[in-house]
Amino acid sequence: MGERLKNKVVFVTGAGSVGPGWGNGKAAAAQFAREGAKVFASDINPEAVEETASIIRSEGGIVETTVCDAADALSVEHAVKACMAAFGRIDVLHNNVGIIDPGGPEDLTEEQWDRLMAINVKSMYLTCRHILPIMTAQGGGSIINISSIASTHSLGYSCISYSASKGAVNAFTRDIALNYGPKNIRCNTILPGLMNTPLIHMGNVTDVYGSTEEMVRQRDALIPLGKMGDGFDVAHAAVFLASDESKHITGIELVIDGGVTLKVR
Ligand SMILES: NC(=O)c1ccc[n+]([C@@H]2O[C@H](COP(=O)([O-])OP(=O)(O)OC[C@H]3O[C@@H](n4cnc5c(N)ncnc54)[C@H](O)[C@@H]3O)[C@@H](O)[C@H]2O)c1
Repeated sequence: MGERLKNKVVFVTGAGSVGPGWGNGKAAAAQFAREGAKVFASDINPEAVEETASIIRSEGGIVETTVCDAADALSVEHAVKACMAAFGRIDVLHNNVGIIDPGGPEDLTEEQWDRLMAINVKSMYLTCRHILPIMTAQGGGSIINISSIASTHSLGYSCISYSASKGAVNAFTRDIALNYGPKNIRCNTILPGLMNTPLIHMGNVTDVYGSTEEMVRQRDALIPLGKMGDGFDVAHAAVFLASDESKHITGIELVIDGGVTLKVR
């Protein structure tokens, strides 16, 4: 067990995974715990969050869980209260939750658009609304928002709500970083590239490529470093941004993409 996050409490949204294996949020929650943090893992899916928690417990880590829809104001308020009741403080907010809905404006229904924006963007507003006052009272904190290279580059297919939402995440991050810097609250965003996580094996992404095998082949072929990254590439970066090792870093967009965006810069 490492000690880079010893004595820190980390609040994670979307700490489960949509399928078997390691999503970004699940890997980050596990890695935070492996570095000595007390992890408050929240997810809309009770089984998914319990799966993450059982892994952390089996490794001797400290974790509490709650079922929370990160897009719902009351649900987030309750989750933050439950975290405070369990651990008494919040040092790190890891805003991981996010969904993807490929398509353009003519493909997506208004309900799909609103739901994605609520999960990908409003969720960050809601967690910050409740956790910033706690961090302010404590004298500081670190917020990590998970964006995507889709915020700055094309994914090669239309994904308008996702790209727009992740662009909003970047702008949201800059605003918090600037305005809460004087309170010693840092806010950074991670832009994962093409990652091989359970999320992309869901029908709505594989459909774009025709099959899972074809998706993996095409995505790997695009990466200068040879293949897609995984949840732990994101998790290791998140540990750094959560820790005091990054105490002079705020407002950045940390790209984790095996070099893929270098090709179209
Ligand atoms: N996988 C990739 O290739 C990739 C690339 C770039 C960015 N990202 C971003 O990484 C983040 C996490 O992706 P992942 O691969 O870990 O996804 P994932 O879907 O495997 O895990 C996220 C978890 O979020 C939960 N969730 C969904 N809606 C929720 C809600 N309303 N409230 C609370 N929890 C909810 C799911 O139940 C799931 O357990 C997202 O923001 C995604 O946009 C992923």
